Amino acid sequence: MTPVINHLKCTTMIRKSLFSVFILISMFAFSAENPSETKTINMPGDVKAIIEKSCFGCHNTDSKNDKAIDKLNLSTFDSLTKMKMIAGYKEIAEVLEENEMPPAKFLEKNPDKKLTEAEKTILMNWANNEAKGLMK
Ligand code: HEC
Repeated sequence: MTPVINHLKCTTMIRKSLFSVFILISMFAFSAENPSETKTINMPGDVKAIIEKSCFGCHNTDSKNDKAIDKLNLSTFDSLTKMKMIAGYKEIAEVLEENEMPPAKFLEKNPDKKLTEAEKTILMNWANNEAKGLMK
């Protein structure tokens, strides 16, 4: 074998192994990304924290609350059509405005999940702005 061919073979091998390492790393990085936490709407951190505290438990794919998922599934919200998303954001703002969510019964048992006025305002502003942004 000429040295040139040898050299070529060698770089291909290095490339191949580098590629496998890359695949492995990306697989790791992906699985390390909170495996138990279901994907939610892409949202700012403060909004996400509030949603996870007070809403996500009922409104996600793995929830046992069928009625809640039926009305709003935050795990799949991102894949809704634009029109449905707008409607969803408006409904979120509406239930907050009317103090309908989280449900009163639930809050009796879980008073720590109640939204403060400040949290309510953050969520409502976010939902209204998202809806407005989509309507542009
Ligand atoms: C304890 C479970 C639970 C929690 C926590 C909860 N929800 Fe709900 N949610 C429900 C149920 C059940 C329904 C369906 C009510 C119905 O059909 O009458 C619902 C319905 C809704 C709807 C649809 C309303 C409509 O009129 O169609 C929206 C929007 C909503 N929730 C938003 C939220 C938001 C925002 C939060 C957090 C601030 C939240 N929910 C927290 C159980 C929950």
